[in-house]
Amino acid sequence: MPKKIVALAGDGIGPEIMGAGLEVLATVAKKVGFDYVVEEHAFGGAAIDQVGHPLPDQTLVACRTADAILLAAIGAPQYDNAAVRPEQGLLQLRKELGLFANIRPVKIFDSLKDYSPLKAERLDGVDLVMVRELTGGIYFGEHILETDQASDSNTYQVEEIERVVRSAFDLAQKRRKKVTSIDKQNVLATSKLWRKVAEEVGKDYPDVTLEHQLVDSAAMLLITNPSRFDVLVTENLFGDILSDEASVLTGTLGVLPSASHAVAGPSLYEPIHGSAPDIAGQGIANPVSMILSVAMMLEESFDLQVAGKIIRQAVEQTFDKGILTKDLGGSAMTSQMTAHIIEEIERSSL
Ligand code: NAD
Ligand code: IPM
Ligand code: MN
Repeated sequence: MPKKIVALAGDGIGPEIMGAGLEVLATVAKKVGFDYVVEEHAFGGAAIDQVGHPLPDQTLVACRTADAILLAAIGAPQYDNAAVRPEQGLLQLRKELGLFANIRPVKIFDSLKDYSPLKAERLDGVDLVMVRELTGGIYFGEHILETDQASDSNTYQVEEIERVVRSAFDLAQKRRKKVTSIDKQNVLATSKLWRKVAEEVGKDYPDVTLEHQLVDSAAMLLITNPSRFDVLVTENLFGDILSDEASVLTGTLGVLPSASHAVAGPSLYEPIHGSAPDIAGQGIANPVSMILSVAMMLEESFDLQVAGKIIRQAVEQTFDKGILTKDLGGSAMTSQMTAHIIEEIERSSL
């Protein structure tokens, strides 16, 4: 039976980079003999325009029955003050599928070191993974907006903290065996609980070192000493902010993929960036974030490690040749960048 992959292109640059991701998927699938079908569904602003809701029932049903989901990006300025926003669909999808563990790797490409705002020597050895809690915290608390006041509530259950911290430790065991748990326990009750649970979980992993960092100093250390980190784990909002910050180390937000996993059921793979309305429709978006999301999907949902490696190597070789999109100061269009990566995949002897 072919594997069913649901593709949600969404808004802005979403369709442009999804196209690139699916082309790469087709090329590598042919090479390794991966049998799959792609079902495309409306999502985000595109779905609001069609049916008035960012996550139509049909899309949700398709996602639930998928073997994996690829999402490009959602969001557009015309919904900024609308009652129904594309972002609500994304949050609902994460919640409905229980995608609590969002894995955001940050790895420096050697040939991109000069494009990072950091000095090249500070980037030596940078290879970290942000594990962001994705279905709890302030994102899913009560949001009350009144004329003269507003509030957002942040709640975490022990089990929600425990399972995401466990994901971080499991990951660290396969890496450099260090977990940095990030919180604001000098102020927040949720953070005090977070730290206590992280300590408890850590006892089950004696081979992994656990350290705690307050979120403000963690933000500083990500810039001053990023190579000190291996696996970072933190709550939803801190993880959102810190992962965009960490992306800057690579030189651009446009190369950062992610995977989101549930206890059971399909995982979702998406770039960490948004729909980039400022460059949408120009054919200049960096497709690498989407292409590496495809690589993560092949590795993590279908255990196709070689396929993932072929894609990663092809991306690296393309960068090594100096083929870069505008966000990295280059002039390659999305389609040219994609074509070069595909060429490298076809040539690969892996
Ligand atoms: P953004 O991530 O869309 O863009 C930030 C900056 O990075 C922009 O200058 C953009 O041009 C650039 N950029 C992002 N991806 C790029 C790529 N692949 N290639 C080249 N440049 C790239 O953030 P924003 O502008 O704050 O948000 C735009 C919309 O996206 C908002 O509606 C927001 O809610 C939404 N958003 C969606 C997701 C998602 O779908 N998962 C994630 C973040 C933001
Ligand atoms: C992300 C995005 C989303 C988030 C928005 C679009 C709701 O910024 O995936 O990082 O905040 O989680
Ligand atoms: Mn974000």
